[in-house]
Amino acid sequence: MNDVILFNFRVILPKIKKTNFVLENPYFNYSKLKLFMPHIAIISASIRPDRKSHRIALYFEKYLADNKLATTEILDLREYNFPLFDETLKNQKKPDPKTLEYAKKIDLAHGVIIVTPEYNGGMPASLKNAIDVLYDEWRHKPTGIVTVSGGPFAGNQCLVSLQFTLWKMKVWTITEMFSVPNVGETYSEEGVPKDKEAANKLAQVFVKELMWCVKADASSNS
Ligand SMILES: Cc1cc2nc3c(=O)[nH]c(=O)nc-3n(C[C@H](O)[C@H](O)[C@H](O)COP(=O)(O)O)c2cc1C
Repeated sequence: MNDVILFNFRVILPKIKKTNFVLENPYFNYSKLKLFMPHIAIISASIRPDRKSHRIALYFEKYLADNKLATTEILDLREYNFPLFDETLKNQKKPDPKTLEYAKKIDLAHGVIIVTPEYNGGMPASLKNAIDVLYDEWRHKPTGIVTVSGGPFAGNQCLVSLQFTLWKMKVWTITEMFSVPNVGETYSEEGVPKDKEAANKLAQVFVKELMWCVKADASSNS
């Protein structure tokens, strides 16, 4: 792909002007100049009928859209209603179209945000199932982890095991965290935070780090 990607016009443009790369390079093809709006897949991991962590998936969907930072799609594991996979996708003889669609969405996303509740100190089985069914699609995928709990500890205990699993699969997990305690009281069903300012401040740092990794990945051309 020879296209020149301007990831964030406002950030990159001054650098380009400075070096005069675009203006002075005789080989530069203006028709290939594209603005790059990243696409982020948001995995909502809880499949419970009365789930609360989905509120945070809705919050990020709106936050990224409102701030024009990315296009998004929520990959809702409750909607996918996957079976317990008995084989990875590439070894399945007759893969379900739903699983193929999910794999493609992970593969094509520039980055992923995983919104997960903590169940008994770990990630829910629905999430492990949805991670383990893929492999190549995850490789080097810039990924942010959001942990959620109904109590005061914000699901932090599932972070390390989830990170380890993703690390084994060569996922590029970002170092910033977004942890939500007392989700039932702090976010509405529509994903509106009670303390919007505090939530947005935390999201800004988290998303900035994710976008840095997306940008680095996009320009690495690998
Ligand atoms: C099977 C199960 C195990 C849970 N284990 C924990 C836990 O270890 N720590 C915790 O803070 N909350 C735990 N919770 C409560 C969740 O934090 C709570 O349900 C919260 O709303 C997020 O999960 P949800 O999106 O499924 O609603 C557990 C809930 C379930 C259903």
